Amino acid sequence: MSPRAHPQTTLHVSLGERSYPILIGESLLADTATLASFLPAPRVALVTNDTLYPLYGEALAAALRQHGVHVLPICLPDGEQFKDWPALNQIFDALLEHACDRKTTLIALGGGVIGDITGFAAATYQRGVPLIQIPTTLLAQVDSSVGGKTAINHPRGKNMIGAFYQPQAVIADTATLTTLPPRELAAGLAEVIKYGLIRDLPFFEWLETNIDALNARDPAAMAFAIQRSCENKAAVVAADEREETGVRALLNLGHTFGHAIESGMGYGKWLHGEAVAAGMVVAARLSQSMGLLRADDVGRVVSVLERAHLPVSIPDLGAGRYLELMGHDKKVEGGKLRFILMREMGKAFLTADVAQDVLETALEQSIHRD
Ligand code: NAD
Ligand code: GLY
Repeated sequence: MSPRAHPQTTLHVSLGERSYPILIGESLLADTATLASFLPAPRVALVTNDTLYPLYGEALAAALRQHGVHVLPICLPDGEQFKDWPALNQIFDALLEHACDRKTTLIALGGGVIGDITGFAAATYQRGVPLIQIPTTLLAQVDSSVGGKTAINHPRGKNMIGAFYQPQAVIADTATLTTLPPRELAAGLAEVIKYGLIRDLPFFEWLETNIDALNARDPAAMAFAIQRSCENKAAVVAADEREETGVRALLNLGHTFGHAIESGMGYGKWLHGEAVAAGMVVAARLSQSMGLLRADDVGRVVSVLERAHLPVSIPDLGAGRYLELMGHDKKVEGGKLRFILMREMGKAFLTADVAQDVLETALEQSIHRD
């Protein structure tokens, strides 16, 4: 497979009247006219954080103003621990204080944290206002900005309070990734690798060959990986928008374990992508214990994640604590935990049929020990 991503690509999320484009390309942030074309009225609230406002927010606000758009910047504190009620209220307070109306578009400029909280604010402010996602992390460009899942965390569980709410457009400016810290780049690669494992074996094989180019942020390799990931995500979302048929649930490979790591360690200690990476290794081990994957398949999963500088073992919270934390997962149905496993490389499936002892063994085998 050779990277054939063009300098600018437009994909589509096909959801009937909720359909929207995903624009991917270098320096799209400078294209104010395109951004403005998605606004129903020349009024936006630009929601971002303390890190991104000086990097990209200030310039974007100035360009929009020059274009005749009224801009209300809303700057949240930076971090997963602020994907919470007080930060959400900060958005509502600002919108109300400035009398923002139902035609004010909320622009989410940032990573998945900003995208998720702004999306939830857009879904609920005055029962719903337009939303544009401008993702600036690799994770957000390949996953969280697409598909309309919005949420905040609760101390008892991640993403527990939220809504499905699709944006008018996703605008992914790949140039923003040049300022992304290396650890965040790796976290995004976890979600990229996920697509290969759940439904796209040729992409996984491409990643095995090209992971070093991605680590080095090679523009052509990055553009291809983002495009291919978004194609996968758009197809899954179009097939099962609200995670009702089991198709979209597959996007959560590794997440049941990952969410347990994130909440068990305290939000913000492990990055979401890091927790997903370690969680995917547990899922692969579990699939092996159930006779689905071979040991060398698990080795391939571990190897590509390690080469992407991601963790491949889980912190030692104790198997019992993991079981307790996983009990709060959204995939629990009728009191029964459900898991995404791999039937074979590149083919994931959802099952509730996992014996407790097999699960405990896979957790024990995956716990990091010095
Ligand atoms: P994040 O939003 O915390 O961003 C990571 C860090 O990078 C932050 O400090 C941010 O300020 C900084 N940053 C962002 N863009 C930058 C840039 N271009 N240059 C320099 N610094 C930059 O983390 P994330 O990994 O983007 O998102 C994780 C969140 O996404 C989690 O809350 C997770 O639950 C959520 N998520 C949601 C979905 C979904 O479908 N809605 C999917 C996956 C993950
Ligand atoms: N990241 C999981 C989903 O969008 O469904």
